[in-house]
Amino acid sequence: YFLGLDVGTGGTRAVLVDEHGKLIASAASEHAAFRSPQPGWAEQDPEDWWRAAQESIKGVMASSGVSAAEVKALGLTGQMHGAVMLDAEGRVLRPSLIWCDQRTGPQCDWLHAKLGREHLIELTANPALPNFTLTKLLWVRDHEPEIFAQIAHILCPKDYVRYRLTGKYAMDVQEASGTLLLDVAHRRWSSEVAAAAGIDEAWLPELFESQEVCAAVSAESAALTGLSAGTVVVAGAGDQGAGAVGMGILQPGSVSATIGSSGVVFAATAEPTRDPLGRLHTFCHAVPGRWHVMGVTQAAGLSLRWLREVLAPQEDYTALTADAVDVPAGSDGVLWAPYLLGERTPHLDSHATAAFCGITAGTTRAHLVRAVLEGVAYSLKDTFTLFAELGIPVNGVRLGGGGARSPLWRAIQAGIYNYPCDVLVAEEGAAFGAALLAGVGAGAWPDTDAACAAAIEVAEQIMPEDTAEYERGYQVYRRIYPALRAIRG
Ligand code: XUL
Repeated sequence: YFLGLDVGTGGTRAVLVDEHGKLIASAASEHAAFRSPQPGWAEQDPEDWWRAAQESIKGVMASSGVSAAEVKALGLTGQMHGAVMLDAEGRVLRPSLIWCDQRTGPQCDWLHAKLGREHLIELTANPALPNFTLTKLLWVRDHEPEIFAQIAHILCPKDYVRYRLTGKYAMDVQEASGTLLLDVAHRRWSSEVAAAAGIDEAWLPELFESQEVCAAVSAESAALTGLSAGTVVVAGAGDQGAGAVGMGILQPGSVSATIGSSGVVFAATAEPTRDPLGRLHTFCHAVPGRWHVMGVTQAAGLSLRWLREVLAPQEDYTALTADAVDVPAGSDGVLWAPYLLGERTPHLDSHATAAFCGITAGTTRAHLVRAVLEGVAYSLKDTFTLFAELGIPVNGVRLGGGGARSPLWRAIQAGIYNYPCDVLVAEEGAAFGAALLAGVGAGAWPDTDAACAAAIEVAEQIMPEDTAEYERGYQVYRRIYPALRAIRG
C-alpha cells in the first residue's frame, strides 16, 4: 500500500492506495481557520499541520485495517507557496504566511525594480506575485528584521510536515517553482535571484523530482503516527502538481479544469513555456523532463459559497442550484465577474472586486445562481484563451473538484470552454496523486505515466452545448473587468 498525505488549507487528508492504484481508505483532520490579523493577511501555524497530519495518518490506518509494515511508501502534497521559516535548530520562527496572503505588493514591486520584471520572468519563468514564497520572506525582512536574522531553513507547508516526519529538509521541483527562487527551466535553485533578494542559498532545502525517495520516517515520528520507522518518503508535489497526477494530466496537450475553492486550468507541456506578460504560472511538472502552465481564478467555488452565505446559508449546494437548470444558457444576460479575492489570471490584480451585471426587474434568485456558475467558467475560459494565444495545445479536457460533481456545472463548463470534457470515475485529487507518486518511488510502476494508466479511468464525456449563447456571454464578460477597473477609486 501507498500513503498520500495532502496538507491543505482547510485540513489534512490521508489516503491509502493499493498496488493496482485503487483508493481503499481515506481520513481527514481539520486545521484551525487561517488567521487574518489585517485585511488581506492569511497566516497558519505549522504545528497545526503536523497535528492534523498525525491524526489523519492514524485515522486512515485505523479505518483501513492495513498494518504499518504493509505501507511501502508515503508521498506528500499540500497547499503551495506558504513560507515556513525555521531557525538553526529547526524551530518555527513565526506563523506561516500562506498562499492567499495578499500583503506583499510592495515586495513584488521591489523585486521587479531590483531585477527587472522581464529578467525575473527569464530567470524563474514567472513574475513576482503576492502568492509566491519569496515575496513573503521579503516582507519579513522589511517588517520583522529580528526574525529574518534568525532564518536558517525555508520550507513550504507539506515540506515542513516532511521535516517533522523524517528530520529531512527537502522540496520537489514542482513546489519549488512556486517559491520564485527556482530556475524553472533548469530545475535548480536560481543563485542569481537568491543573491539579488538577499536569500542565503544554504537556507534552501535539497531539491528532488516528485517520485524520488528523499527521506524515511524517523523512530520518533513512527511512535507518534503509528507508521513504521524507515518507511520511505518520496518528494511529492504541490497540490496542483499532485492533483494533475491524480487526474492523469501528464502528457503535453492534456488539460484539466478544476473548480475547488480556487479554480485552475492546468496544461502539461514539453517545455517551460513562458507567457511574456506573466499571466500564467510556468512551473516544473511532477514528472521529470516535463513542465506545466496554469491559470488561476482566485474565487471559483468560493464564489458559490459566498452566494450561498448571502442568499441561503441553510441550503446545501444541490438545493441552491436546483432552479438554475431552468434558466436558459447565458442567464438572460445576467453576468458574474468573480473577483471576490482580487484575481490572478489574466488580470494579476489583487485589488480587483467582483460584480453582478445585467440585472433587470425580471432577474430571479435562480438567475443569480446560474450567473455565478457561468461567470466562474468564463473566468477559467480566460486561461483557455491565453493557451490559444501562446500556442499551448489542448488535446483533451478533464474536469475536477466540486465543479466536476455538479451535472449543471459540468454542462456549463463544456459549453463555455467549447471542448468535450471528461469526468473521471474516481476524482480523488492531490492526496491520490501523492500516493501514486509514492508507488512509483517504491517501484510499483516504472514511471508516473504507467501509474496513471493503471489507476485512472474516464467515466463520462460531456459534449459542448449552447456554445453560441455562451460565446456571446463571454464576449460581454470580457468587457466587465476593464469597466470595473475604470470606476475604481
Ligand atoms: C496554486 C495555489 C493554490 C494553493 C492552495 O498556485 O495558490 O492552488 O496551492 O491550494
